[in-house]
Amino acid sequence: MSPPLLLSGKTVSGQVYSDLEPRIKLLKRQGINPGLVVILLGDDPASQVYVRAKARRFQRLGLFSKTDFLPADTPETELIELIDSYNQDPLYHGILVQMPVPPHINSDAVIQAISPSKDVDGFHPENVGRLASGNPRFIPCTPKGILRILKHYEISLSGKHVVVIGRSNIVGRPMSILASLKNDTGNATTTLCHSGTRDIRHFTRQADVVIAAIGRSNYITGDFIKDGAIIIDVGVNRVADDSEKGYHLTGDVDADSVREKVRALTPVPGGVGPMTIAMLVENTVESAEALI
Ligand code: GUN
Repeated sequence: MSPPLLLSGKTVSGQVYSDLEPRIKLLKRQGINPGLVVILLGDDPASQVYVRAKARRFQRLGLFSKTDFLPADTPETELIELIDSYNQDPLYHGILVQMPVPPHINSDAVIQAISPSKDVDGFHPENVGRLASGNPRFIPCTPKGILRILKHYEISLSGKHVVVIGRSNIVGRPMSILASLKNDTGNATTTLCHSGTRDIRHFTRQADVVIAAIGRSNYITGDFIKDGAIIIDVGVNRVADDSEKGYHLTGDVDADSVREKVRALTPVPGGVGPMTIAMLVENTVESAEALI
């Protein structure tokens, strides 16, 4: 097999940002500056990296964003009151509470407190219901980013067997729903594997497209896949090493092991990661446009 096509989220996100420029200009001409508030509870290092990256991107694009860093022991009632104040505040078109939240907080209650019209993550049950019934408002950023990468490289899911591994509300479940929808970006036969699946390899070996959102470093090796498969690696795993940072990032896919077999593959880093923020910006712009 020739070397796999590298599906670059860096390239595709660059295209997304340049496509958004005229839309942002048009909004600004009408006195609307798309605005996002990000709320982070506690001091999880990975979450801090993510929320800072989001803020930097908004700043680079001349968009408005604010990050509230709250103590890990913030009471749920206080968090919900804060969310409600942002629901009422016209400066913010998007509200994002970084997941996971500390264990004393009920994440469902928090998500339900966000106005569905500002839920740029697409996690509110109203938006999940709309997505599941094929009439989405906000599509969750990571699955939306994956579909955008596939579109850019003209890879259609229609008629293919897509195996998603991981059933989180953030990635796996919405991804499996999107892949199965009867529309231009879906129309796949979809299997959702998870921690209760007896033999994941049995399913991935039949897959035309594997979407790995497991959270285990290098879990998918060459023996999991068939020749010519396409692999989307959602994993961002911190593996300790003796570098200055003290860790390096790996995907859920052992790229060296699958390289000989696959037709196309997203790298880590530079694959799905950059798309998540690009889609967050796009959803926030869409939310602002809904006001016009
Ligand atoms: N934690 C990991 N990914 C995400 C995301 O896309 N949105 C939120 N709110 N939290 C996350």
